[in-house]
Amino acid sequence: MSLKDRWRTFRNRMIARPGFQAFAAAFPLTRPIARARSKALFDLIAGFTYSQTLVACLELDLIARLADGPATLESLAKALDFAPDRLERLLKAAVSLDILEKTSSGAFDLGIHGAALLGNPWIAGFIRHHPILYDDLRDPIAVLRDPSETGLSRYWAYAGAGEGQTSEKKDVSAYTALMAASQAAVAREILALHDFSDCDEVLDIGGSNGSFIVAAAARYPQLRFTLFDLPAVAGLAAENFEKSGISNRAKAIPGSFLTDPLPKTAQVATLIRVLHDHDDESALRILEAAHACLPQGGRLILAEPLSGDAATAPISDGYFGLYFAAMGQGKTRTPGEIAQIAQKAGFQTSEPPRTRMPLITSVIVLRR
Ligand SMILES: C[S@@+](CC[C@H](N)C(=O)[O-])C[C@H]1O[C@@H](n2cnc3c(N)ncnc32)[C@H](O)[C@@H]1O
Repeated sequence: MSLKDRWRTFRNRMIARPGFQAFAAAFPLTRPIARARSKALFDLIAGFTYSQTLVACLELDLIARLADGPATLESLAKALDFAPDRLERLLKAAVSLDILEKTSSGAFDLGIHGAALLGNPWIAGFIRHHPILYDDLRDPIAVLRDPSETGLSRYWAYAGAGEGQTSEKKDVSAYTALMAASQAAVAREILALHDFSDCDEVLDIGGSNGSFIVAAAARYPQLRFTLFDLPAVAGLAAENFEKSGISNRAKAIPGSFLTDPLPKTAQVATLIRVLHDHDDESALRILEAAHACLPQGGRLILAEPLSGDAATAPISDGYFGLYFAAMGQGKTRTPGEIAQIAQKAGFQTSEPPRTRMPLITSVIVLRR
């Protein structure tokens, strides 16, 4: 047993002792630690009420209403047709969580989190689809044991659909809109972390409605692009390329990367927020298909949130861990786990992952 393990055993025995909490709260040197720990435990216990406070603020459009400046309880209650004392509960809860802030005159303004939501409107899209996950997690053990009947597996129509899957526009439009709205932030990170100027053509595998390609096309006016996605999604991408005025250098190819070969015209391929959607067997098949379509010396830019860093584990293992459990497939992986699958598929992984905002994405370059 290591020193760290022995220390943990000792610590846990102490904390679990009936008298320990009373002692820690009474003793001046341990009191600040006891307070901080009890607040952290309370956050775990009550976190769902915090999330629901945020959902209510968005549903009532409070963030947008306060975008131009503070408003009084009375004016908000009137505008929202809400009893002021009932609305005040929500506003006070939102203030306690820094979503809102009270002004010196007692009106309500945006707090730091409210202002950040205003500046990143795609986050609201994620929050708005969370009621599906919230419903699924009502019985977390049932979802962990058997995710076949979950709302999220229906939302992500390709989840569990297996080989030969077909997709219709009505099945893909909600998740494609969600991905498109959040892609601006992801594209900003990828384009800041990776230089595409040495190639003529990029293939975006699972490229959704082409939002990444539209962002990359603006940065690299000479570059040509191919997008590959399920037929209904590729159709949305073709419309987007037309609308964005880049259809002369961006095309969308329909197909399934689990069963169809990928187009062979690009020297660089991107795989953005795709691998983590898949279990290891499918992940290997996707990387094998990517390897087969690239020329010798070509590279695959893999971008998604990673697991394995203690600082971001609540996101990768806490949030995404349960998210993918409810979706019925997929997982976040450590750089080592990705390297293992990539090597099996024939890639070399030489450089460590790069990231500026690990919650949004990290970037791994796989060389053929
Ligand atoms: C989580 S989304 C990511 C989309 C996009 N790369 C982004 O970051 O916004 C996964 C994408 O993979 C596509 N996809 C899922 N299964 C697929 C398959 N078998 N063949 C081709 N594309 C697939 C989905 O339609 C979807 O567009």
